[in-house]
Amino acid sequence: MIASPREQVRVGDYLVAAEPQRSLVLQVYDERYLDVEGIEEERAREEVLSASAQGVTSDPTEMTTISTLIRDMRILMCKARGTISKGRLTPRANWMPSRTSSSVTRLMVEDLEGAVEPLGVRGIRIGSVDSESVFSIPAESLDGRITVITGRKESGKSHLAKILLRGLLDNDAYSVVFDLNDEYGTIGQRKDGTEALPSRKVMVLRPGRDLKFSLASVGLRPITNLLSHSLEMPGTSLREFVKIWEQLDNRDELTLASLETGIQQWRCNEFVRDALFARFHTLASSGLFTDSPHQQFDLQDFFSLNRFGGALVVSLSGVSPLNRRMVVELMLSKIVELLERRKIPPVFLFAEEAHLYLRDTYWEDLITRMRHFGVFTVFVTNQPDAIGQKIYRQVDNIFLYNFSNDSDLGLVSQASMADADTVKAIVRTLPPRMCLLLGHAVRNLPIVVSIDPFDSPASGMTRRFFGDPVELVVPTET
Ligand SMILES: Nc1ncnc2c1ncn2[C@@H]1O[C@H](COP(=O)(O)OP(=O)(O)OP(=O)(O)O)[C@@H](O)[C@H]1O
Ligand SMILES: [Mg+2]
Repeated sequence: MIASPREQVRVGDYLVAAEPQRSLVLQVYDERYLDVEGIEEERAREEVLSASAQGVTSDPTEMTTISTLIRDMRILMCKARGTISKGRLTPRANWMPSRTSSSVTRLMVEDLEGAVEPLGVRGIRIGSVDSESVFSIPAESLDGRITVITGRKESGKSHLAKILLRGLLDNDAYSVVFDLNDEYGTIGQRKDGTEALPSRKVMVLRPGRDLKFSLASVGLRPITNLLSHSLEMPGTSLREFVKIWEQLDNRDELTLASLETGIQQWRCNEFVRDALFARFHTLASSGLFTDSPHQQFDLQDFFSLNRFGGALVVSLSGVSPLNRRMVVELMLSKIVELLERRKIPPVFLFAEEAHLYLRDTYWEDLITRMRHFGVFTVFVTNQPDAIGQKIYRQVDNIFLYNFSNDSDLGLVSQASMADADTVKAIVRTLPPRMCLLLGHAVRNLPIVVSIDPFDSPASGMTRRFFGDPVELVVPTET
């Protein structure tokens, strides 16, 4: 498409080429100057002229205006996204509109949305499109789906995740957040200190303090998973462990104390006993387990006390990498167990930089098995290569911020459901706070959204040396 300099069209915008019966929906994915034959010669001539004949400015035939106009003409590279006929959009794009008789106009996102069946009625307002109109995605578009938010550092990923989380909570949904930087605890508050959500809807859990489990409530399967994957317990020792566990379980004596005595008194090879003890001590000293019933965290209670949704924010900052993995695995297995027994409704899981605490095997589990039970994950990461290609293929929604690095760009453009040209060209030029939405939530019509500010107290900021009011404590010699 050729555009004159007056026409305000940007990369990501939609156009429509209309014929009487139907119109073709086009999206601008790139732009460049129109290279007309001889344009360089013309420019050179002009340079020479203006240098040699200074002061000659009269141009009675206005030749320069036309030539500047031509030189400022742009070619808009477009992709066909579908056909609108009788007010309905279909993905058919296998025809070409007439070059002479069709008329080309901007198609506002609002009108584009009007041409497709709405996905739901619970809108989460995330920003604006076409410079002024409000843009929302339906909460339903995250329901039962896998979502990825990615972009380079400090592009606004967590910011968007918080907008989505608050939107879900407004719609009485349940969420669990794995929070690495203590950013999500204040999700229920506004900057001025007032409540954006009822305060009991958000609960911050610090592993080892407000988040402890009892052995009995965790159960054998998650514990053996933990022992074999996170603590690398060999198979022979694991078998003995299972026997000890079962014996204690039959006697209804599953406590840390009785497990220790159980291992001590178990008749087995010394190496096996050592291996058992080493793991037992790791578990016991992690602070994640307790024998005392009132120190245990009851997940099911949280759900039954919050009838209208709520968020559990598991604070992973200041938790050792090993404990992080253990907490995450225990939480996930508990959630899945309760979902399997239909004790709790489905939950949305917000996982920031999940590669830091999620075992490889768990990724697939999350997007296949766990999703079927009702764990719908939103992955947030600045390392798109941390999420495998296999997983991207299952992803339903992608929120893409700017990437300038070629290898990251290549990866996300390959992985996303839109064509690689579009993704590469648009994402490379995305200004800060703007985001390209792909996938189910926008019904596979890529849309560039400028994300709203978010009203919550500042948190999760990277600490700085310069600019932070630092209180230095100077050690005094005694
Ligand atoms: N749409 C927006 N409007 C106003 N402020 C924004 C917007 N998006 C992000 N910010 C601000 O920019 C800063 C960086 O955003 P954020 O922490 O969400 O980035 P990030 O991508 O999660 O960074 P990191 O990779 O470090 O986790 C924050 O202070 C945030 O408040
Ligand atoms: Mg972040």
